[in-house]
Amino acid sequence: MRLETSSPQETKEAAARLAALLRPGDVVAYTGPMGAGKTTFTAGLAKGLGLSDWVSSPTFALVHQYGGDGGPSLCHFDMFRITSPDDLYSTGFFDYLDGENILAVEWSEHIADSLPPGTITVDIQPAGEDRRIITITGDDRF
Ligand SMILES: Nc1ncnc2c1ncn2[C@@H]1O[C@H](COP(=O)(O)OP(=O)(O)OP(=O)(O)O)[C@@H](O)[C@H]1O
Ligand SMILES: [Mg+2]
Repeated sequence: MRLETSSPQETKEAAARLAALLRPGDVVAYTGPMGAGKTTFTAGLAKGLGLSDWVSSPTFALVHQYGGDGGPSLCHFDMFRITSPDDLYSTGFFDYLDGENILAVEWSEHIADSLPPGTITVDIQPAGEDRRIITITGDDRF
């Protein structure tokens, strides 16, 4: 699936619609440069999943979990600083891959070898100041 958006709001709305297709256990792996819109897209996923506890990363650590408690759970990872398998283990990435959570992974390029089969890739490429080309691959739902 290929989308084009022309504002952050449009990217959020597109992500919110796509969230309806996600299931527990899905891994959404972003590729794309700094400032592409990965966090913006994740905010839209959270909204689409009905998670009102989204914070636009005041103290954004390596992972932030939203929801849970019987409802959908979204785990948002930033792998920008992950450079070794030990680093990756310390984020708890493998523990969150328990089929209960939806994982959204920024800078998934850094952990390409550790992404599970069936990972959904969301590539976001800037195409002008406010335009983004978003390409979603990896599963026939998309
Ligand atoms: N169509 C668009 N979709 C998403 N973001 C856009 C769009 N147009 C402009 N922007 C701007 O691009 C920036 C995207 O920032 P965001 O933090 O989402 O990127 P990121 O890929 O998570 O960056 P980083 O790699 O630093 O984590 C924001 O400032 C946003 O307002
Ligand atoms: Mg980000």
